[in-house]
Amino acid sequence: MNPLWDEARTFIEACYRELGKCEADIERRLDEVRHQIQRDGTYEHTFEELEHGARMAWRNSNRCIGRLFWQSLHVFDRRHLREPQAMFEAICEHLRFARNGGKIRPTLTVFAPASREREVRIWNHQIVRYAGYETPHGIVGDPASAAFTRVCQDLGWRGQGSPWDVLPVVIADGGALAWFELPRDLVLEVPIEHPEHRSIADLGLRWYAVPVLSDMALIIGGIRYTAAPFNGWYMVTEIGARNLADPFRYNMLPAVADALGLDRSSDATLWRDRALVELNVAVLHSFRKHNVTIVDHHTAARQFAYFEQLERDANRRVTGDWTWLIPPLSPAATHIFHSGYDNDFVLPNFVRQRRPYPAPHLRIDPSVFR
Ligand code: ARG
Repeated sequence: MNPLWDEARTFIEACYRELGKCEADIERRLDEVRHQIQRDGTYEHTFEELEHGARMAWRNSNRCIGRLFWQSLHVFDRRHLREPQAMFEAICEHLRFARNGGKIRPTLTVFAPASREREVRIWNHQIVRYAGYETPHGIVGDPASAAFTRVCQDLGWRGQGSPWDVLPVVIADGGALAWFELPRDLVLEVPIEHPEHRSIADLGLRWYAVPVLSDMALIIGGIRYTAAPFNGWYMVTEIGARNLADPFRYNMLPAVADALGLDRSSDATLWRDRALVELNVAVLHSFRKHNVTIVDHHTAARQFAYFEQLERDANRRVTGDWTWLIPPLSPAATHIFHSGYDNDFVLPNFVRQRRPYPAPHLRIDPSVFR
């Protein structure tokens, strides 16, 4: 019949059963939702549905190793906000709440869902991210941000030109586009040092504390929330084995190896592998020292095993994307590597959306690995 009604019904039934509601409550709510859909062509979630739906979406995120904590997600309902300025203030509040003085709280802020008339989007990939400037000598900063940095500059934003400039927040509401500079004191960052090798600190590496993904849509019961930024805390390898290490990102392994005095005359000295381990030791040590929540990949994998067990106990199937669940460092030292997962897409969930600004297709040039 009506595809929205089908999805709404499936969600309400699952959500209300999980919340331990009686059949009469479910029937009453289904009647209400059906009438709303018939009258308006859409329906509005209660806060309870929104909160639990968002938690289910996290639980169903096949690429996430941190799903054990899905029930702790804190949801801010900002569906009523209309002005980009007010949305930006809500984002600041999200950051402040999530940061929590370093003891990071998984948090999600929901803005108005997509409708026929209106779609709000946050153009940033993450609320906090470093700019990447194209210069004649290559990219300064995070190459992953190069296209978006250009967009910000076209909007009139000017960065310092350092490798660690925090990008502005760009919010689009229909035709209106606005950008805002995040207050410096809201952006918690950690300078990277090694517990034994002093020379690592001299590299001047740093990373921000809270990864707030802001470009995915949250889909609950047929309703599409196109602006629903959310965060957890970092797993060390995301920073130490990818953001700072990938040859097409900050590409720091050669500099780290030199700081450690490793022999780089041949690939076979395994200098990259040794640099990777020490860089991850440094990231973990630095976050700990500054009392910022972070998890190592062995602990995260063990937590994921516990999640799998709890889900089986609750008679739910665990879906997963093996290629993303294995950590990029020592994958075979975790149980995940030796397990299989069905990568089925289950709703509610988070989905990628079309990039709202023009950007060249990101293709990794294999020559960066030479
Ligand atoms: N991998 C992304 C990054 O390095 C963050 C993705 C979400 N990670 C998380 N721990 N919740 O910035």
